[in-house]
Amino acid sequence: MLETHQFDAVIIGGGGAGLRASLQLAEAGVKVAVLSKVFPTRSHTVAAQGGIAAALGNVAEDKWLWHMYDTIKGSDFLGDQDAIEFMCKNAARAIIELEHFGMPFDRLDNGKIFQRPFGGMTQNFGETPISRTCAVADRTGHAMLHTLYQRNIQANTQFFVEWFALDLIRDADGDVLGVIALEIETGEIHIFQAKTTLIATGGAGRIFQASTNAFINTGDGLGMAMRAGLPLQDMEFWQFHPTGVLNAGVLITEGVRGEGGYLVNSEGERFMERYAPHAKDLASRDVIARASATEIKEGRGVGKNKDAVYLKLDHLGEELINKRLPGIREIAKTFANVDPIYEPIPVVPTCHYMMGGIPTNLDGQVVLEAESPVNGLYAVGEAACVSVHGANRLGSNSLLDLVVFGKAAGDKMVAEIAQNKAHKPLPTNAADATLARVNRLDQYQKSGAQGESVAEVGDAMRKAMQTHCGVFRFPDLLSAGVEEIDAVAARAQHIVIKDKSQVFNTARVEALELDNLIEVAVATMHAANNRTESRGAHAREDYSERDDENWLTHSLFYKQNNRLAYKPVRLKPLTVESFEPKKRVY
Ligand code: FUM
Repeated sequence: MLETHQFDAVIIGGGGAGLRASLQLAEAGVKVAVLSKVFPTRSHTVAAQGGIAAALGNVAEDKWLWHMYDTIKGSDFLGDQDAIEFMCKNAARAIIELEHFGMPFDRLDNGKIFQRPFGGMTQNFGETPISRTCAVADRTGHAMLHTLYQRNIQANTQFFVEWFALDLIRDADGDVLGVIALEIETGEIHIFQAKTTLIATGGAGRIFQASTNAFINTGDGLGMAMRAGLPLQDMEFWQFHPTGVLNAGVLITEGVRGEGGYLVNSEGERFMERYAPHAKDLASRDVIARASATEIKEGRGVGKNKDAVYLKLDHLGEELINKRLPGIREIAKTFANVDPIYEPIPVVPTCHYMMGGIPTNLDGQVVLEAESPVNGLYAVGEAACVSVHGANRLGSNSLLDLVVFGKAAGDKMVAEIAQNKAHKPLPTNAADATLARVNRLDQYQKSGAQGESVAEVGDAMRKAMQTHCGVFRFPDLLSAGVEEIDAVAARAQHIVIKDKSQVFNTARVEALELDNLIEVAVATMHAANNRTESRGAHAREDYSERDDENWLTHSLFYKQNNRLAYKPVRLKPLTVESFEPKKRVY
C-alpha cells in the first residue's frame, strides 16, 4: 500500500493561481497542502512582466464595463460573458487586496498605483487606448508570486516542494478524492487524499518549438484531467506573443509598446499603421502576431535570415527604460546581444499562452458538458478555461484571472469542505493505472527493447506543432498534422530513458511530463483541424472569416477515441446587457 497523506484540500501547483487559492483556504483554517514540482517562487508566474489589468482609473477615467467590453471583443466573442463580467468587476478589489498583502506596485507622482497602456485596453468601448495595467516595473509576476508565497507561509500552508503530481483519483461515482504524486528526490509514489483537489499547474506552451514558456510548462494538470476521462475546452486557441526574442523565445513585454515602443520592418516602416490604423502597436496580440508573420512571409523581415521584425524603443530614452523596463534591457543584452537604449530588438511571434483548458464554472469547479460540477475537483489559472479569454486573451488579463478565480475557488472549497466532515473511502485500485504508466518506463528498459529517447520524441512533437499549427493554419497542414501527432503519441509509449547519469529521477519526470505534453498536443491538433472558421488566434487560410452561425461555440476534446463535442458560449452576463458579436477591428 502506498503511503497516504490526508488533507482537506490539495492544491497542485505553486504559481499565482494555486497560491491565491491556498491562501484563502489556509486563512479559513482549512488543512491545505500545496504540491509543486519546483520551489513555488520558481513557478512560471514569476516570468510575467508587464502587469495586471484593473479599471482603477488612476491615469484617466475608467470603468469595469469598458474593461469587460474590451475583454469580450479581445476574445473574439468566444469568452463567456458572465465570467468576464465577474473578473472585470472584481479586478479593483483584487488589486487593493494585493497591495494590502504587500505587493510593491510602482507609483504615480500622486502616490496612486502606476498604470500603463496594454493592447486592446480602451476607454469608452474602443474609443481611445487607456492606461489600465498596474505594474511593478517589468517584473510584476515576480512581485506577485513572492508576495503570495510569503502570505502563505504566514498562514501556515503546508508545502510539498519538488513533488510531481501524476494522476487524479476518481471513484465509481466520478468524484475526485485526491491525487497520486511522486517525490522527485526519492522516487517514492504517495497518495494525497483530499476532500477537494485543485489543479493550478499552468500552461503547456512547451508543445511548440518557439515558446516564451518555462521548461516546466508541460500541461501536467491537463494530462491528469484527460486521463481521468474529463474533456479539455477550446484547445485550438493558442496565443503567439508578438515579441519573443528571435531564436531564444524569451518574452519582451507588451509593456514596451505600452510605454511607446513600436514594431518596424526591413524598410523601417511602422507596419502596424497599415494593419490596425487606430490602435496600431496596441491592437490585440493575435492581430499583431499575424501582421508580423505576414511582413516576414512577404520578404520584409529583418536580420540575416529576414525572419524577424524589429521592436524599436531607443526613442524612449535611457531614464524611462531603466525605470520602467529594466528587465527588458537585461534580456535584450543577454539573449539578443543588443542594448535597446541604442538599438532595436529582433523579435518574432512566439507561443505564449493557452486560452483553452479544463472547463470550469465561476467558482473554479470543474464542469462536465452540461455544466454539472465534478465533485471535489477544481481548476484555476492557465490550466483552466472558465472562459474569460475566449479565442484570444488580452495582455495583463492573465494575472488578473489567477487572483480573481483563485480566490473564488478557495471560497467555494472552504464551503464544500465544511459540508463534508469525513473523507470518502479511496477505491482499492486507486493507483493501479498510474503505477502501470510509471513502471512502463522501467519495464520497457528492462526488456532490452529498442526505443527512442524523451528528447527525440519531444522534438518530433514540437516540430509537428510548430509546422502544422502555428500563427496561420492551412487545411493540408492541419490534416497531415493530425496524423503526425497521433503517430508521435504512439511513439511516446515506447520511450527508453537513455541517460543513466541522471540523478533525483529527473529523467523519469521528463518522460512523464512528455506524456502530458502529448495529451495537450493531440487535443490541440484535433480541435484546430475541426474548427472550420477563423476566430481570434485560430486563423485558417481556407476559412478566413469568423462564422458565428456555426461556430459561436466552445469545443470539448475527450481522450477516448479523440472525440470532439461542442457546447454554447454563455452570452448572458450576470447583471448587464450582453455585448452582441460584431466585426472586430482595431
Ligand atoms: O507582455 C507581457 O508583459 C505579457 C503579459 C501577459 O501575457 O499578460
